[in-house]
Amino acid sequence: MLPKRRRARGSCPGGSAAAAAECPVRFPDVVIHLVESRMGRSRRAFLTRLARSKGFRVLETCSSEVTHVVMEQMSAEEAGRWQECWAAAAPPGCPFPALLDVSWFTDSMTAGQPVPVEQRHRLEVPKPKPEEGPQGPLWLPAYACQRPTPLHHHNTMLSEALETLAEAASFEGSEGRFLSFRRAASVLRALPCPITAPSQLQALPHFGEHSSKVVQELLEHGLCEEVERVRGSERFRTMKLFTQVFGVGVKTADRWYQDGLRSLDDLRQHPRTLTSQQKAGLQYHQDLSCPVQRPDAEALQCLLEVAVGQAQPGATVTLAGGFRRGKLLGHDVDFLISHPTEGREAGLLSTVMQSLQDQGLVLYHQHQPSRCGDSRHLLWQSHTMDAFERSLCILRLLQPQRAAAGSPSGPGPAWKAVRVDLVVAPSSQFAFALLGWTGSQLFERELRRFSRKEKGLWLNSHGLFDPEKRACLPAATEEDIFCHLGLRYLPPEERNA
Ligand code: CTP
Ligand code: MN
Ligand code: MN
Repeated sequence: MLPKRRRARGSCPGGSAAAAAECPVRFPDVVIHLVESRMGRSRRAFLTRLARSKGFRVLETCSSEVTHVVMEQMSAEEAGRWQECWAAAAPPGCPFPALLDVSWFTDSMTAGQPVPVEQRHRLEVPKPKPEEGPQGPLWLPAYACQRPTPLHHHNTMLSEALETLAEAASFEGSEGRFLSFRRAASVLRALPCPITAPSQLQALPHFGEHSSKVVQELLEHGLCEEVERVRGSERFRTMKLFTQVFGVGVKTADRWYQDGLRSLDDLRQHPRTLTSQQKAGLQYHQDLSCPVQRPDAEALQCLLEVAVGQAQPGATVTLAGGFRRGKLLGHDVDFLISHPTEGREAGLLSTVMQSLQDQGLVLYHQHQPSRCGDSRHLLWQSHTMDAFERSLCILRLLQPQRAAAGSPSGPGPAWKAVRVDLVVAPSSQFAFALLGWTGSQLFERELRRFSRKEKGLWLNSHGLFDPEKRACLPAATEEDIFCHLGLRYLPPEERNA
């Protein structure tokens, strides 16, 4: 772990551990970022090593610290588009870095120090002509937490195709392929315009050969053969069906598939292999497979607020998950329960669950006690699970309008089963818990990766840890956390990565 830490926070941030040891920064006012597109990965790596060996500071990502952006063989138009994208993602008020031709870089390397920027070094960026649609390469920062991702975007057909391939890779246990496709899809979600030509992809992060080929095929033929084959395959359909059952993960679904099971009825005929959670998932599958709607989430929040307020006056219920990001539909509803006075949240959840049970609203619940007392070491290791007390529930949500006589949709069931996650966070960790439970899942993953790799800080739903100072950085709000990480604050609606 030590080299990584040095790499991110030593005298040469972003450099190799070896470089960090041998090259103190000699020019602290100059922070260089080399743009990879056109320059190429290996030449960029070579130039980075060269500059660092001469005491220059070079950052892998174009953060707000960068003062000199160096490009090679980029046309003025491409540089202009790069700058537009940079401006869209940069913190407000952040000064533009100088956009420079590689000649400034080579002159500086020859001189052994940064040479003054002359007009001939500058890339002249033209004003965009509004009648010209974007045709050339587009650019975005590499981490999803460095760019806003709205719920609705311009490349739905393309991102869905890549997400299908990501999902299929996850079904095969290929974590690397899953992340590659998922990250590429997320880049498309963040673009300010539709992709119309494959050439626009070449400067985008996370677009390797495979993802680029899929997009190219979709642009040219409207369909991608591989994606269609996956979507139609028995394996994919069955794995999707099984993993959508509450309590069923990829490993279990795969085992069932290997055992020849193909349908939910097949599962029902093998009840002894099911956990109680899976049994409940199957029992209420019909309801749970219909998306939860926003009014359902609001109704749940109201009834939880009553139960929580009765259990402990002043306690709060906060909507998290996809609904907090502005989604209108979800597979469940996620809530955080807390209390402004640290410690008063303890014991709350059992009282709340008892009250819901007394009202006949609990169809299933699995309580997990807090593991916050576990050693901190373990907490920082786990990237998926946090240690908060929680209840994973299936609640009975009354549907007054359906039950009412004369309802336009006719008399229907008076209630439906809804998946609800209740998580209890003490007030000192609330901001971290809220950030962690708001998602999206990829956004969280990228935020943690950014913290660790670019800032040398460890983030999870409990806190932000500085391993060099051996201290947690306090935060009262999500804004504070973004600020610690040197990131522009993104509101929940812009975290749909
Ligand atoms: N989460 C978590 N630990 C878990 C489960 C979820 O930290 N054990 C976080 C995930 O990172 C996710 C958020 O809680 O970002 C919400 O998870 P989930 O309900 O699975 O996803 P949503 O984004 O809410 O999507 P959906 O609308 O389908 O529910
Ligand atoms: Mn959710
Ligand atoms: Mn959830």
